[in-house]
Amino acid sequence: MTRAAIDPGVSTSDQTAPNPIGRPHDPIRQVDVWLGEEELGFLSRAISERWITEGHHATAFATAIREFAKTDYMVFAPNGTLGLYLGLLVLDLPRGSEILIPSFTFYGSAAAAVFAGLKPVFVDCYPDTFNIDIEDLESKVTPSTSAIMPVHVYGQICDMDGVLAVARKYKLKVIEDAAQAFGVHFNGRHAGTFGDVGVFSFFSDKSIAMGEGGALFFQSEILYERARMLRNQGRANSGTFEHPELGMNFRITDLQAGIRQIPTDPRASTEPLETVMQTPEWAWRHQTDEGASQLRSHTLPDTDHDGSQGGSPELSE
Ligand SMILES: Cc1ncc(COP(=O)(O)O)c(C=O)c1O
Repeated sequence: MTRAAIDPGVSTSDQTAPNPIGRPHDPIRQVDVWLGEEELGFLSRAISERWITEGHHATAFATAIREFAKTDYMVFAPNGTLGLYLGLLVLDLPRGSEILIPSFTFYGSAAAAVFAGLKPVFVDCYPDTFNIDIEDLESKVTPSTSAIMPVHVYGQICDMDGVLAVARKYKLKVIEDAAQAFGVHFNGRHAGTFGDVGVFSFFSDKSIAMGEGGALFFQSEILYERARMLRNQGRANSGTFEHPELGMNFRITDLQAGIRQIPTDPRASTEPLETVMQTPEWAWRHQTDEGASQLRSHTLPDTDHDGSQGGSPELSE
């Protein structure tokens, strides 16, 4: 397969025509997903097994994720946006109530809230981290507020102690938009494990790329069980036509999950998910002095953030 064939949007003629300074075009790719023979192997195995919807590849991937993030309750979603929507449905917030969202985030954070019948109220962000400003957050709480959606934008985790303090004080639910924060920790805990719900994206520019995909973490077994029912047509498990509750279809496929079936990835035999997350940017940030100092300069004082990962500012979908 030629490069042009896998790079829609850049025609062959665009790539070979000389640019204004007379040199051939060498397009800089916004996203360069780590895909190779191993992924082709996973895909062809899933195909040869003739069970391409959510199955044992997804189960294996879920186990790897849960072990890495040290969380017990997790379900998949088709993508991060639908993951946020599902998380909000699970929280069952009053229709028309207000949800506090940082003014700087990806469109999907607020869109999911609107589709869930909520009113997004935007909160200022710190200019150095782009994360939700805790003082402004508290000032925006009203009797109609039901939830907070902190966003760990660019993999820079929010001040979750501050967010949780406001949530506790006003009895608000917390749904973390951790779409860009797989592999990021705060005070030794993985992003997405602080709020009632934490949501991740596995879009192509994320720490783990499956093309499309998402995951939700829950802190309570009750919320987790509700999510299982809601995502799988109102039943906890497939293979039955008994649907005790109302539900929808938020499943993924084994084709996606197979791509990231980490436990059998030979590159990842010793350090499963860390290996896959070592994109050139990740490695640069974590293995060079320059990268480390840039990480530090974007880190809130007095916290022990140990990672920063996610889409870069100019990425768009
Ligand atoms: C902060 C944030 N929230 C939500 C999403 C939506 O995720 P997805 O593209 O998987 O729907 C993204 C994706 O870029 C994101 O960056």
